[in-house]
Parts: sequence; C-alpha cells; structure tokens
Amino acid sequence: MIINGKNYRTIWLADDKKSIEIIDQRFLPFEFVIEKINNVEEMAAAIKEMHLRGAPLIGAAAGYGIYLACINGKDKKDFDDYIINMAKLLESTRPTAINLKWGLNRMLNEIKKTKTIDEKIETALKTAIIIADEDVEINRNIGLNGVKLIENIAKNKNGKTVEILTHCNAGALATVDIGTATASIYEAFNRKIDIHVWVEETRPRNQGKLTAWELQQAQVPNTVICDNTGGHLMQTGKVDIVIVGTDRTTSNGDVANKIGTYQKALAAADNNIPFYVALPSPTIDWTLISGKQIPIEERTEDEVLYIEGYLNKKVENVRLFAEKTKALNYGFDVTPARLITGLITEKGICKPHELEKFFGKMSV
Ligand code: MRU
Repeated sequence: MIINGKNYRTIWLADDKKSIEIIDQRFLPFEFVIEKINNVEEMAAAIKEMHLRGAPLIGAAAGYGIYLACINGKDKKDFDDYIINMAKLLESTRPTAINLKWGLNRMLNEIKKTKTIDEKIETALKTAIIIADEDVEINRNIGLNGVKLIENIAKNKNGKTVEILTHCNAGALATVDIGTATASIYEAFNRKIDIHVWVEETRPRNQGKLTAWELQQAQVPNTVICDNTGGHLMQTGKVDIVIVGTDRTTSNGDVANKIGTYQKALAAADNNIPFYVALPSPTIDWTLISGKQIPIEERTEDEVLYIEGYLNKKVENVRLFAEKTKALNYGFDVTPARLITGLITEKGICKPHELEKFFGKMSV
C-alpha cells in the first residue's frame, strides 16, 4: 500500500530480526505511527487493543507472535510448554476472527516437525513470513476474480460510474496488503474503470475512517456515510454492488463480519442489489457448519459511550452519553448464506452454499 508516496505492508520483520514492526492503527488517519513489538506479550496486547486489526492481519500477527515467543523462550527448559501457553495467550485476544487460530495452528504444526530450539526459531520465522506473503497473494487473486463483477456492471452502465458500498475496513490495513473487499476495488481502479465507493462509518470504532484514508491514499474516489444511510442509498438506486469482508465463514456459507453487515445484506436483498463477501480461504472455519456457532466478540461499553477524534493535534476520546448510561457492544454479526449473492475467493467466485464443494473439504 502506498502511504505518503512510500510502499508499506502493515506488518514486517524489523531490521534487528528480533522484533516486529507494525503500522499502529490507533492513530490513523491523523498520525502515521510505526510501533515496534519486542515480545509475544506486546504482540498479544497489540492484537487485543487493536493497534492492528482485521482478520487476515490478525492471522499474520499470530505467526510473528509465535516467532517472538520462540525467541523469548529460547533459554527456557520447558520451551515447548511455553510456546503452547503463548499460543493460548495470543488466541485469547480476539474470539471471532478465525485467522488467529488458523495462523497459530499452522505455526505450531510447523514447529512441531523440528527438533532443536534453533531449528524451531528458524522455522517459526520462515512460516510467519510465508503466512504474510501468502496473504498478499491471496488478496491479489481475490482482486483478479472480483474485478470481473465490477467490469460487468460497468459494461451494463455504459460507462457511468459504478457505485460500490463497503462496510468497516476490509482494506489493505485489515490485511498484510491490498485488502480483501478492496482488492477488487483497487484492481478496477487500476484498470481505469470509473468507480466510486460509499464508505460506511462503522460505529462504534469507526473503521470507515481507515477505509476512507487508504482509498484516499490510492486516489480512489470515495464518500463516507454514516451507517444509517446505506439502506437509503440502496433504495434510491445509488448502489450497484455491496462488497464486504469476513472474520469467519462457516462451511454452510454463513458469514460473520463487523457489526452492521447483516442489516446491509437485508437492505441489499430487499433492493435486488448484489451482495458479495471477499473471502480468503484462511477465514473459512471448516469445523463449524453454521454461523450460529460462531463466538461473537463483546467489547467494552466505552467504545460506544465515547468517541475518538483529533483535537489540538492529538487523538482524544470524548464522552457522548450521560454518566451512568449503559451500553452494549457486540463486535460482529452473522449474515446468513441466503442473503449473500456470492463469495469472492482466491480460487474464484462461488455461491455460499457451494463453498464446501468449491474448495473440497479442507482442514483447519
Ligand atoms: O474489529 P476489526 O476491525 O478487526 O474488524 C474487521 C472486520 O470486520 C473486517 O471487515 C474483516 O476483518 C474483514 S477484513 C479483510
């Protein structure tokens, strides 16, 4: 992703090879801050407190987190137990995005195949880098598959702007690079298709500010709307396609994504607007057969009761509600497969109920 003219990923191995660097998303879009993560506990805190976020990026962070654990634990007699405990610590940080567990399992399986601690450290680094690189490749292919949908709409509109609506941030910042929902958008923009993106604000954490910022960095035309506006835009013919991301998709094609996604799927269905989910394969939970089984993250009520903004050159938190007001804060909701037109995967586009047949059964 190009930020202020320079190419970045969201996470990478630091020059000292003993720490990891990430774009600290708590300060975006106001300040561009790079945070150095020195040990596995700091990585767990960075995931939990959302210095980094987005399902695919959390999966990559799990990989680098285990690498840090291997370095931190190298002199411990009970090295193997320590790594398993650190994997549990990382897994406990965010419950809904399955990429976290997927990344941890992959790391532990690879490490298990080696004997000496040096081999384990080397394998951990190699695997973490592969996970990160694969994420970028998967997203590139999602973009190449999804762009066909946008091209078809553009053809039918005779050159008129294709209007795309997206929710939350399923962009480059939610992945290692490129993004999932944004992959097709960036590909369409590169192919000079006339597009415009409606960016939903996405209360309470307002990840829409990240989407608007990264689209702006890439010069993709976009407009922020508050979450309540999406349905009206669909009803009045101002949306051609909805593309969102996912944090966990079950084998029957049900999709957990950022809270509010379900309402947009309902509005899209009511208005015959195609509703697509960009789905990288590590986000599929083959062990669950229905979205009803997905654990939904509940976060602090403060994210609802307060709002973050930029004041006097500082990111500040301002209270929105009276003292003693109570709030409820679910991070995700489930959109049933029946409301989803298609899943855009790195292998191609499939109907949600055909997911298992399309991929062939894969294990986590
Ligand atoms: O709580 P977040 O910000 O981690 O949630 C992110 C989302 O819900 C994204 O839409 C999802 O991870 C898909 S990301 C490519």
